[in-house]
Amino acid sequence: MSFLIAYASWSGNTEEVAEIVEETLLTEGTDVEVHRIGLGPVPDMRRFDAMMIGSFTWDKGATPEEVKDFVADIGYKPKNVYVFGTGDTQFGGDALFCHAAVKLARFYESTYKPLKIEQSPRGIQEKKVIEWTKGVVQHWQHLHALKY
Ligand SMILES: Cc1cc2nc3c(=O)[nH]c(=O)nc-3n(C[C@H](O)[C@H](O)[C@H](O)COP(=O)(O)O)c2cc1C
Repeated sequence: MSFLIAYASWSGNTEEVAEIVEETLLTEGTDVEVHRIGLGPVPDMRRFDAMMIGSFTWDKGATPEEVKDFVADIGYKPKNVYVFGTGDTQFGGDALFCHAAVKLARFYESTYKPLKIEQSPRGIQEKKVIEWTKGVVQHWQHLHALKY
């Protein structure tokens, strides 16, 4: 399996989640490439079995512009997209918490629940990231086993 992790981060929280996701995927025996959204050319999605896209939420539930540009630059909707996000409940409560991640998951018709992390994942939330990532691998394997 070959996974792309593409993420956007300004103050480092989503980057930390991406790092834990990467570490977990590697321990699960998956090939991983990491792309920081906004830096360098958009990777060729066809080289990967799945994409994990990570975004923070901005300005009352908004998706950051660089994430919107990245999605547009891909040029089509890849299948097998998994979404993670960071946010902060003090910016509008549950309704807007990690809303960019929720919107991305809907856009890509992701069949696995998006991961929502409050600020930094280090400490108590790290386990949540690890469990979610292991769940993604199982989900992908299950989906593809059904195609035999
Ligand atoms: C101006 C501003 C608006 C924000 N709006 C939201 C929001 O609507 N929903 C949310 O869940 N988090 C919101 N946040 C919190 C960020 O998404 C959160 O701090 C995130 O972890 C930052 O990610 P990064 O460290 O990867 O850049 C906002 C933060 C700022 C500074």
